[in-house]
Amino acid sequence: MTQSVLKGIGSYLPKKILTNNELEATIDTTDVWIRERTGIAQRHIAAQNEYTSDLAVVAAKNALQDANMSIQDIDLIIVATTTPDYTFPSTATIVQKKLGIKHGAAFDIQAVCSGFIYGMSVADSMLKSGAARNVLLIGAETFSRILDWSDRSTCVLFGDGAGAVILSSDDMKESGILNTLIRSNGEHRELLYVDGGASRSENVGKLRMIGNQVFRHAVKDIAAIMEECAEGYGLSIADIDWFVPHQANQRILNGVAKRLNLDKEQVISTVASHANTSAASVPLAMDSAIKDKRIKRGDLIMLEAFGGGFTWGASLLRY
Ligand code: UT7
Repeated sequence: MTQSVLKGIGSYLPKKILTNNELEATIDTTDVWIRERTGIAQRHIAAQNEYTSDLAVVAAKNALQDANMSIQDIDLIIVATTTPDYTFPSTATIVQKKLGIKHGAAFDIQAVCSGFIYGMSVADSMLKSGAARNVLLIGAETFSRILDWSDRSTCVLFGDGAGAVILSSDDMKESGILNTLIRSNGEHRELLYVDGGASRSENVGKLRMIGNQVFRHAVKDIAAIMEECAEGYGLSIADIDWFVPHQANQRILNGVAKRLNLDKEQVISTVASHANTSAASVPLAMDSAIKDKRIKRGDLIMLEAFGGGFTWGASLLRY
């Protein structure tokens, strides 16, 4: 049976770092509040002339190098993003041009913070159907551009970055993506949304969130979908080596770990240094744990995310 195997991974964070202490100078917040309530110490911010596609391209090149593959091998580019360069064309086609290919297909996925997991689901289906052979899946965001920098309840939480993986169809048994589940529920739009958009307001808008209510939904839904994802493949949570969660808040990671009885050492966290990079957060966290050699070939990994929509999902992967 054809499997969707992870051949390579790469990431990129913009050079500029914005610390909590720097935020203290511009809004009514403290480093202590941000660390205690979120675990965040700093975030990376894209330069003025650096766009989502630029972050995506660097992450993609790093993933191609890791996979020892050429861009000519890629026949599908998927970019998960909520902060595209333009309303159209898709950021994926801009990335395609910047990488210098004219073949195959490229499109964006919009599922906010769950975009990378949605992308895993779409890439897996297209690889298994034979519609693509080598997919470049990227999560890339410049969330700093849709933040209201005077709103202390949201602007301290997010950062910019990109992560990319190469997924290829292969006959390897028991390897690659084993099961992916994606879910949504449009009832809670007002808890997490952007107050603008091409059709509604003819401008981009800024992010709005009622954080404590999102928090409660996130812990419950993430724990449930991870269990369902493992059981759907005939495994239990106890069989899994590593958990690579969406990096929204350290207290969400701790809450889910407590519910599922996970060892904290198994939960990869980059919240402190990256903050919430939306669709980029899962591949960024996974790349950091692969590069520092915690995650090794053959390990069983559970990825998960939760975000605006609401959207959420989980993906079980043999690396
Ligand atoms: O990726 C998409 C998914 N997003 C999430 O999962 C985010 C989920 N939510 C959260 O991470 C947390 O709810 C927050 C970090 C956003 C907020 O933490 P909280 O413990 O839920 O605090 P809260 O919203 O209940 O606010 C507590 C207090 C409020 O003051 P009062 O009303 O008690 O006087 C806020 O005004 O903290 C205040 N506050 C702040 N104080 C200092 C809110 N933001 C700040 C801030 N600095 N930056």
